[in-house]
Formats: sequence, C-alpha cells, structure tokens
Amino acid sequence: MRSIKNSFPSEEDHNLLREADAKHLLHPWADLSTLGEQNTLMIQNAKGVYVYDSTGKKYLDAIGGMWCVTLGYGHEELIEAMAEQAKTMAYYTPFGDVSSSPSAQLAQMLAELTPGDLNRAHFTTCGSTAVDSAVRTAHYYYACQGRASKRHVLSRRNAYHGSTYLAASLCGKLADRTLFQYESDFIHHLSSPEYDPDIAEESADSRLQSLLDEMESEIARLGAENVACFIAEPILASGGVLVPPPGYQAATREICRKHDILYISDEVVTGFGRLGHFFASETHFGIVPDMIISAKGITSGYQPLGVVMISDRICETMSAHAPVDKSVFSNGYTYSGHPIACATAIKNIEIMKRDKICEHVQEVGPYFIDKLRSLVDSPIVYTVRGDHLMACVECWTGNETGPTARNMALAQRVDEYCEQNGLLVRPYENLCIMSPPLIVEKSDIDRIISIFSQALNRAQSDLDSGRLD
Ligand SMILES: Cc1ncc(COP(=O)(O)O)c(C=O)c1O
Repeated sequence: MRSIKNSFPSEEDHNLLREADAKHLLHPWADLSTLGEQNTLMIQNAKGVYVYDSTGKKYLDAIGGMWCVTLGYGHEELIEAMAEQAKTMAYYTPFGDVSSSPSAQLAQMLAELTPGDLNRAHFTTCGSTAVDSAVRTAHYYYACQGRASKRHVLSRRNAYHGSTYLAASLCGKLADRTLFQYESDFIHHLSSPEYDPDIAEESADSRLQSLLDEMESEIARLGAENVACFIAEPILASGGVLVPPPGYQAATREICRKHDILYISDEVVTGFGRLGHFFASETHFGIVPDMIISAKGITSGYQPLGVVMISDRICETMSAHAPVDKSVFSNGYTYSGHPIACATAIKNIEIMKRDKICEHVQEVGPYFIDKLRSLVDSPIVYTVRGDHLMACVECWTGNETGPTARNMALAQRVDEYCEQNGLLVRPYENLCIMSPPLIVEKSDIDRIISIFSQALNRAQSDLDSGRLD
C-alpha cells in the first residue's frame, strides 16, 4: 500500500485504510467476534477539543483520547518540545548508571509536585508497566528486609489497573475477565467501594464501615505479615467513575499504616489535573500514599510514559537492606523514561502551571458535573456521577439496573446518536463515560450537554416505540 499522509484522504484512500485496518490490525480490547469487519472509526486529524475522522467529520472529544489528552490536540509547544528533544538526542539507554537530562529534570519536578517524601521517580512506558513496577517494588521492599512472605496484594472489584499479566490480574471487573490467564495466588479483591448518595439505600457512614470491616477481616484472614500492599484508584475510573464514600481513602490509608502494608495510589486518571490538582491523593483525599502511579495526562497523551513515585523511606530501606549479590533493582524497560516522553512531560507541566490548568478545572469541573446532573430528569438515566472532569451517565430501561443486555443496548444507542451528531463519549456496558480535555470551556460543556440530551431523547423514543430491539 502506498503511504497516505494527507490529513483528509480521498474516498479511495479512506477505503484502503479501512481495509488495511480490518485485515491487519488486532486492536487493543478488540471484539474478536467482529474481527475483520470494516467498522472502525478512523480518527485522522485533531485540534483543541475536536477530532476529525478520515471523511473530515468533526467531533467534540468528550473522552479526551482515553482520559489522557489534557491540553487538547495540536498544541504547538508540546509538538516543539518533542521535536526539539528528538533533534537533540532521541534515545539512549536509561539502564543502570546512564541517564539523560529530561528524565533527571522531570524526576525533580515530579518530586516537587508529589506529597510527603515521595521524592523518587521510577519511569516506565505506560500505566500498566508502572502498576507492575509498583507492586514489584513492594515485593522487593519486604523481601530485602527478610520478609518475603509479605507478598499478598489487595485490590478491589471494579478496579482497572492495566493489561500486563500482573496489572490485568489486579483488575477487578469480572466482565473484563475472558480466556486469558490471571494470577490469583497472591492477589485478592475487596468489594468495589462505590457510594452514590442519589441511589444508596444505606448511609455513607454505614457503607464506609462495612468496607473497612471487610478490609480488616481480609487482612486478618491472610495475616498482616503476609500482605505487602493495597492498590487503589482514588476514584475508580474505567470501572464506571465509582466514587467511594467520604473518608474511605483516609481510613484505608490508616488501616495500611497500622498493619505495615504499603499504600499504592493509582493516579493514572485522577492525576495531572483531572480533579483540579496535579495529584489528587493529598489535596483532594487527604492522604500521603507510599507510592503514586501516574501516566496518561503526564504528557497530555502526546507520548507514552508512566511513572511510580516512590517514598524516600522505601528507597532508603531497599538501598540499606539489599544484599550485595541481589542489589540490582532489576525492573525497567528499554523505553523507561524515554527522553522525548520526558521532555514532553516537562513542557506539559510548565504549560499547566503557566496557564493555570488546575485552577481552570476547579472552575469548569463543578459546572460540568452540575450540567450533567440535570440529565437525571431523563427516564433512561438511572444516575449521574463524577468529580470535576471525570463523569459517567448510567442508562437503564426503567426495569432492572446494571449492565443487562437491554440497558447496554440503550447506552449503545445513546452513544451512536452522540457520534452521529458530532460528540464522542466512551461507551462501556450501560455507561457513557466522559473525560474531556482539561482545556474544555463552559461553551464546549454546553455543547456536550446539548448533544447528549438530544441523544437521550432519541434513544428514549426508540425504547418507547419498541425500536430498541
Ligand atoms: C487507573 C488506571 N491505571 C492503569 C491504567 C493502565 O494504563 P495504560 O493503559 O497506560 O497501561 C489505566 C488505563 O486506563 C487506568 O485507568
């Protein structure tokens, strides 16, 4: 196939691209039952909060790429930073005692942004590899103190932590478990901790107490001396923007401290401005974890990069106790902290500070949530939940709640009508998930709400007139 470079290909080229895609690509999270069908949406071009498909159709991207395009598309300064670093030094090994100036500078900047003594950055290539690295660090930390049996990991149902073997095993969404293999020997899932006051049948306090009791009893069952770490997204993102009851993060942090269990906060989504702060753990939830994981918005999605920010306490302990013959921290990747990715992240942080992006999110975030909440008046909306610029609308046909076949078909229909009218939301089961770029303006939000509510009305009339099935 000849190379097709123009932003909007001719119809002939467009068809060739779709054919190549259908024949030769296995997409992440592809539906194998439709493998080979030419039904992909081919995004070809993007600017600001808009993306364009290969026919030139324009969409407001309420997904922000995949929670990650925070500064919007086509940002000249990010593009220049990438090009500049590529010209200066595209790549050199990060292993052992070799480094590059972007990774050293970025590590320092991150240490200043993270709470407490989380002063050391271990770069990876994405969120999943950062999750892997954090859990492996917890294992090393205890093993080097002669406590290798302290290796069990607590996660939660509905959690999403990525798709390497270890990260996928930490995920707790049962529907995502297919025919792959998952580690179950040392990974344990606590209940999904969501609490939605609009639909809850119990008080937030009693829900919180039962979650904490369950955590305590699971630790007692395993023996605290066998539990290495607890990994938690402050708000469960891909599980459906599930917000725990108030005080949950602080109370689980305290349980971990009491039992000498490391607390890993997975801020792949909640970090880098989505909740109005560089990191939400301390500023939004009042906790200082032992490790924080970040990826996605760290480069505004312009480059793949992940990082585990690790506490001085952990690093100093590992350094002091590592046996001479096993003192290599044998974790890392060829592209860990790739110089171009780090240079992009540095520029991203500079722009976020200069343009007061977190302050902007603090202003538009509540506006977004308020406007979305007005949609609960629709009979096909079961509930709306979220925080700042991460939100989710849960659809239902008015009978059973949850991801039933009909509820999923209904959400799918809403999603199709949004797409037809130039709005991309992320369909997941019976949910429509939204995480727009952080530069979104109130006028963009009004447009999202307007297109979304038209889509709800059309889907509802399909339901009422029996045209859903
Ligand atoms: C909370 C969380 N952790 C980890 C990951 C994995 O990140 P990646 O897809 O970059 O490997 C994701 C991805 O969506 C995520 O939402």
